[in-house]
Amino acid sequence: MRNIRLRSSGLWAVLATLATLMVPATVVAAEPVKIGLILPMSGPFASTGKEIESAVRVYQKTHGDSVAGRKVEIILRDDGGTQPDVTKRLAQELVTKDHVQVIAGFGLTPLAMASAPIATQAKVPMVVMAAATSIIPTKSPYIVRTGFTLPQVTAPLADWAVAHKELKIRSVITMVTDYGPGIDAEKTFVSRFTAGGGKVVESLRAPLQNPDFAPFLQRIKDAKPDAVFIFVPSGVGTAVMKQFAERGLDKAGIRLIATGDLTDDNEMENIGAAAQGVVTSFHYSAAHDSPENKAYVAEMAKLGVRANFHSVGGYDGMHVIYEALKKTGGDSNGDKLLAAMKGLSWLSVRGPVTLDAETRDMIQTVYIRRVANVKGVWSNVEFDKVEKFKDPGVQ
Ligand code: PHB
Repeated sequence: MRNIRLRSSGLWAVLATLATLMVPATVVAAEPVKIGLILPMSGPFASTGKEIESAVRVYQKTHGDSVAGRKVEIILRDDGGTQPDVTKRLAQELVTKDHVQVIAGFGLTPLAMASAPIATQAKVPMVVMAAATSIIPTKSPYIVRTGFTLPQVTAPLADWAVAHKELKIRSVITMVTDYGPGIDAEKTFVSRFTAGGGKVVESLRAPLQNPDFAPFLQRIKDAKPDAVFIFVPSGVGTAVMKQFAERGLDKAGIRLIATGDLTDDNEMENIGAAAQGVVTSFHYSAAHDSPENKAYVAEMAKLGVRANFHSVGGYDGMHVIYEALKKTGGDSNGDKLLAAMKGLSWLSVRGPVTLDAETRDMIQTVYIRRVANVKGVWSNVEFDKVEKFKDPGVQ
């Protein structure tokens, strides 16, 4: 009897201890902060989704999966990359059914534009990690963008081409993909290059869906400008570069200059020697020489991904969310988070950056780079830069 009583009171003691351990845990532990991450994980722009998703994983691996006492939970949705109404519906569901406190991702401009009203209605921050048409943040006061804009990376390249008289780039044909970021790039290049005394002889626009660049490249070859300026969204660069070489534009002495989307780091292995010597402008190169970037590129490589610019938009997007949560002491109220995000400055793997409090876009260094083989790896090697450069908008 005695033994039994002892045993049972021992059991009660254990249960009571367990209960005291558990009760505070359930009472005190805050709900997780939920981030709805909408990305093209399938379809023609799936590389953007894979890059950003991997970067988000690397961020949580290196910074932990909780901040300011809150666990940060990622809810990933694949929007396929081509249908704005699908992205908008996913954003709506994430807000109303999953009760996320932040929506993030947005691989292409039309997808970000369609989703902006959801952020406004729900009063949740919308972290645009990839889409790069200048006007996007004006579509909702809840948007912050952690990538770049096309005018921001195009203007320094036009200025560089004008300034380097020895290159003899006096006449240019522009070729862009015919939608928001391409039109931003074209307008910016034309206005800056012309203002500097250059001449744009023709402006060509290729469709976003299933583009065939061959007729455009042939036309450029026949017209014989000193150079061609190109913008295509990431994922398309390999096709353009192969056709450029196949049609012999390089041998015809036509220089190629472009925004860095063309020589996307994650496509450089496929593009290879076809792009040797091509000059581009951009805010990020996997070859950026800093200890922070080397560590980042190594972590991404462990996931089988060569870090590219979209991934850095994702990585820094997570940084902005984490830092904002630190500032609010874990409060995930949308207005408070947004206020905490505005004006943040930090050393990104791309270099020093500030999230402009006024425009909610990045102020960052834009680098001029040249494609070269560095120890067996085709890379965008930075050789010139413009620091603290803001999106100039479209003039
Ligand atoms: C965009 O749709 O805004 C976009 C996508 C890919 C890029 C640049 C811009 O490389």
